[in-house]
Amino acid sequence: MDAIRFSGAEGVEIDVTVVGGAGHVGLPLALSFCDQGLNVLIYDINPAALADIRAGNLPAVEYDAQPYLDRALASGRLFMTSSDQDIPSTGAVILTIGTPVDEFLNPVHKAVQGCIDSLLPRLTDGQLLVLRSTVFPGTTQWLDRHVAESGRSLKIAFCPERVVQGYAIRELHNMPQIVSATTPEAEDAAAALFGKLAPEIVRVKPMEAEFAKLFNNTYRYIQFAIANQFYMIANNAGVDYFNIHQAMTHNYPRAKDMPKPGLTAGPCLFKDTMQLSSFAGNQFNLGHAAMLVNEGLVLYVIERLERRYDLAGMKVGLLGMAFKAEVDDVRASLSYKMRKMLALHAGKVLATDPFVSAKDDPTLLPLDQVVRESDILILCTPHQAYRDLDVGNKPLIDIWGMLNRAPI
Ligand SMILES: NC(=O)c1ccc[n+]([C@@H]2O[C@H](COP(=O)([O-])OP(=O)(O)OC[C@H]3O[C@@H](n4cnc5c(N)ncnc54)[C@H](O)[C@@H]3O)[C@@H](O)[C@H]2O)c1
Repeated sequence: MDAIRFSGAEGVEIDVTVVGGAGHVGLPLALSFCDQGLNVLIYDINPAALADIRAGNLPAVEYDAQPYLDRALASGRLFMTSSDQDIPSTGAVILTIGTPVDEFLNPVHKAVQGCIDSLLPRLTDGQLLVLRSTVFPGTTQWLDRHVAESGRSLKIAFCPERVVQGYAIRELHNMPQIVSATTPEAEDAAAALFGKLAPEIVRVKPMEAEFAKLFNNTYRYIQFAIANQFYMIANNAGVDYFNIHQAMTHNYPRAKDMPKPGLTAGPCLFKDTMQLSSFAGNQFNLGHAAMLVNEGLVLYVIERLERRYDLAGMKVGLLGMAFKAEVDDVRASLSYKMRKMLALHAGKVLATDPFVSAKDDPTLLPLDQVVRESDILILCTPHQAYRDLDVGNKPLIDIWGMLNRAPI
């Protein structure tokens, strides 16, 4: 697709540029600032996603965002470009690009550096540059040094995104915003900017903010791992874990946050736990243990099924391929690990998902076909659409406790 250029806006002063603004984090943020009356430029290297947005379509499921997009397009305050030549020399610039880990489970620093280096020539001294992506601890200080070594003087801040995917619009306006920066002036500028959205600003130092974000996600990853480990222990003993969960949590305040088991996946929790582990010299035993439990749940399910069924002679249907319920995002979804591993153990594997488009996975089949043709079904993603599903007398494996509670 051709590049999309920032045009038709001569004389417009951009207040905020969101780099990676067509992404899951960037778009709701851009729309929220636009809704506050700011002139917003989305800069993203994905022109197809920009074309979608310009046509009034959200590139990914984001609840409550459609009216924001409609208003932003009608307002004439939302601009888009896929060319770094259009980055303005005024206004705040916020980085929301992906920050994955590599095949060694270490952060890919060059993605952030490459992006910064493409922006630097466009920016003027005194401009506010905010890191919002989840970064390896020390990245904000590195950026400060890197900018200074380039002979430049920018206001550098790190203001992490902590929304839960799919519900950013709601949470951006309801949750406190952590703000950190390398100078008091930068901190004040970042606090003033995010104060337009967040009800509360929490000011800390950059390394504290970087750890706060990673600790938040890692804590959640470990909580899910505990739930998954308890589930496997109870299940191995032939006991209904969901009865235990009910007993543990009913009117008992100290266990009220205990999650239920499930496939713990997606683009953030695993990789942020691994970033933290990388920072800790691979000596983060609890994080690695959580990873083994969460990733191992897929293999546990298959092993348990092999004890009861002749999988090699069966067709297995997977219900749900998105990494979590009610979204269309397949990034790092454990449903795909399930499918890959079952390909080695089962006769055939069929898969379906009401949210995931053929563009993201052309192999998916309609739900009724998967139910009809499968000998056994596994609930991989607990979408509400499966709540009242009738599969006749076919076995339906549910580790989430949403449909049936039988031990597997
Ligand atoms: N997804 C979430 O719910 C969530 C929540 C909190 C924090 N985060 C963090 O936010 C960051 C972004 O995550 P995401 O899920 O939005 O990723 P994403 O892949 O959905 O979005 C990133 C966007 O950046 C664009 N991009 C990549 N490199 C670019 C460059 N050099 N210049 C301009 N655009 C570029 C991509 O085209 C894409 O649209 C990550 O650090 C992630 O860990 C994500």
